Amino acid sequence: MKASIALSVSALAAGALAAPRNFTTIQPTGYFDPAAATAVQTTYPKYHHTVKGRLVDHMWHIVLDSADFDDAAANEDLQALAKEGILLTNYYALTHPAQPNYLGMVGGDTFGLTNDSFVALPKNISTLAECFEDQRVMWAQYTEDQPFTAYDGWEYRTPGTPDDSPAQYSRAKNPFVAFDSVMSSVKRFVNLKSLKSFYNEQESGHIAQWLMIRPNTINDGSNSNLSTAAKWARDFLEPYISSKKEYHRKLFVLTFAHAATEDAPNRVYTLLLGDIPKKHRGTTDSMYYDHYSIASTTVANYDLPTLGRHDCRSNVFALVNKKCHFHNTNRTIDPSDNYNSQRNTGWLSSTEVPLPIPNLNCKGAGRKYVPTKVKKTWRKASYSYYQWVVNY
Ligand SMILES: *[C@@H]1O[C@H](CO)[C@@H](O)[C@H](O)[C@H]1NC(C)=O
Ligand SMILES: *[C@@H]1O[C@H](CO)[C@@H](O)[C@H](O)[C@H]1NC(C)=O
Ligand SMILES: *[C@@H]1O[C@H](CO)[C@@H](O)[C@H](O)[C@H]1NC(C)=O
Ligand SMILES: *[C@@H]1O[C@H](CO)[C@@H](O)[C@H](O)[C@H]1NC(C)=O
Ligand SMILES: *[C@@H]1O[C@H](CO)[C@@H](O)[C@H](O)[C@H]1NC(C)=O
Repeated sequence: MKASIALSVSALAAGALAAPRNFTTIQPTGYFDPAAATAVQTTYPKYHHTVKGRLVDHMWHIVLDSADFDDAAANEDLQALAKEGILLTNYYALTHPAQPNYLGMVGGDTFGLTNDSFVALPKNISTLAECFEDQRVMWAQYTEDQPFTAYDGWEYRTPGTPDDSPAQYSRAKNPFVAFDSVMSSVKRFVNLKSLKSFYNEQESGHIAQWLMIRPNTINDGSNSNLSTAAKWARDFLEPYISSKKEYHRKLFVLTFAHAATEDAPNRVYTLLLGDIPKKHRGTTDSMYYDHYSIASTTVANYDLPTLGRHDCRSNVFALVNKKCHFHNTNRTIDPSDNYNSQRNTGWLSSTEVPLPIPNLNCKGAGRKYVPTKVKKTWRKASYSYYQWVVNY
């Protein structure tokens, strides 16, 4: 049984005959109309406590769209930021284009998505949200130009912009919104807010601990260029990295969803900033990481359960790993290869591939198995797609 499923999955990955799932790119009616949205706005989560992390208490993830590593490394704004932090020189995106990479960061798998179309993962697919709930870590995602909290539409053009110009907000670049496990739960979807809320909450001093921050499709570079995105990132980050009071016990991760070139390894420029010891500032780390390291570093820092997916064996950023001693394993990527630039078949691209069952026997970097609810959902399912995950 195991062997035959493994075989058919890899046969599909090799590019076979699978029928695609049907999804729509039509503007959905949404769970919310603007009136309902107003009601959601008032359901603010209360940030009444701070959970202590092993290295830092606050983790902010800022994700830009696409750029090749070498182009990013030549950019002056990013060079200025790199002087204040650690440049990860062996960090890879997962596939192309952007959306499957976002699913990977918060869901531990790309689920075989090969494009930026309108998709939704069923309720029994968990995200980091369930992991956070285990330790009551407050989290939030802020997306620039998202019209209102928990907006689940396909795109949004800010009023006054010409119809033929690109929309500033795109669902495909919004990590948590594609998961019905988030969108069917009020306590989760109230955390999907616009970037305006970030500034308001910063000002009031009540802000979540774990953040995902997404500029709009101009400022992330997708409808502009690398210089625009890099300048946005520098302007955004500088106030926080230049003052100890601001960065105390905070780690900022700046990365790109994917590389621009598809027939080369999918290496992306990634910086760790914030509360970085002086001796590490302006240095590089050559350990192998990828977007699943965002999830594994998160669960490591807060002692959280694992997603039981690719995060379970993904390397933890060295700075955090000094505090939790996960078994990081380096990898050598052949620069002439197109490593992680392939588009693989999975549940979202083929009706012949089953939903990947999480590995219930894998202890992740937070020294815990999957959350109890996730275990209950899947315990009768016989085969985990992630069999190869070893139990550390
Ligand atoms: C997708 O929709 C088309 C047109 O309605 C239909 O013919 C096809 O069978 C559907 N495919 C699947 C996998 O449901
Ligand atoms: C990037 O876009 C900005 C704003 O549109 C423009 O001023 C600049 O010349 C562009 N840079 C490159 C390298 O194309
Ligand atoms: C990881 O492997 C790469 C490629 O072989 C190598 O250049 C790098 O020095 C290694 N890094 C560490 C931390 O072992
Ligand atoms: C995205 O990929 C799916 C699955 O392969 C396919 O059904 C769909 O038509 C694609 N959408 C676009 C917009 O290319
Ligand atoms: C997960 O959800 C899918 C879609 O609703 C369903 O087909 C499947 O049976 C569920 N699996 C489990 C183990 O709950």
